[in-house]
Amino acid sequence: MDAANFYETQALKYLDTRDRSGVGVGIVRSWARSLPSGSTVVEIACGGGYPITRILVDSGLMVWAVDTSSTLLRQFRLRFSTIPTQCASALESDYFGRIFDAAISVGLVSLLHEDEQLAFLHRVSEILRPRGRFLFTAPVEMGTWQDVTTGLECWSLGRTAYTRALEREGFRVIRTHIDEGENNYYEAEKIG
Ligand SMILES: C[S@@+](CC[C@H](N)C(=O)[O-])C[C@H]1O[C@@H](n2cnc3c(N)ncnc32)[C@H](O)[C@@H]1O
Repeated sequence: MDAANFYETQALKYLDTRDRSGVGVGIVRSWARSLPSGSTVVEIACGGGYPITRILVDSGLMVWAVDTSSTLLRQFRLRFSTIPTQCASALESDYFGRIFDAAISVGLVSLLHEDEQLAFLHRVSEILRPRGRFLFTAPVEMGTWQDVTTGLECWSLGRTAYTRALEREGFRVIRTHIDEGENNYYEAEKIG
């Protein structure tokens, strides 16, 4: 089963745990607060919206959201009825035909194959304005593994390759962060 199917079939079970989890909250909150109020942000792989979308909204950002799971998006819309949503893959979404001030993607990149990850970074670069900001989770180490919780196969290009790929797509890495769940975040800015 691929990741998109997994999260669709396990949607409510996933939410049961994630809704009560504070993992990543501190990092996302300080990133969101570093953006000017009213900035437009696309959340890619938004899930059910707790806790990440809640932080973006509470930080005064204007949010658009994309996810492959129709069940998760149904819950998301009950929680954030005014946020525009799209049920689509991160690689195939038209991203509402917009250019954004920022993009965030928590828990997605490792679910994509290596070539899809590179295509994803390219796509994000296309939908951000110059000086646009990007925060996403992906490991520092390179490798392939089976996630202990979901059983899904995961891939990581590793820090050097992510940094190079981001630079090829016109980003600079500002810094990295590690949250309480040991997840690594790349914080980047699109140059020029
Ligand atoms: C680990 S969850 C993270 C959800 C949310 N960002 C959070 O922090 O709670 C992964 C999410 O990615 C979504 N997903 C899986 N494959 C996807 C793809 N190719 N494009 C967009 N979303 C995808 C799943 O439906 C799920 O909501």
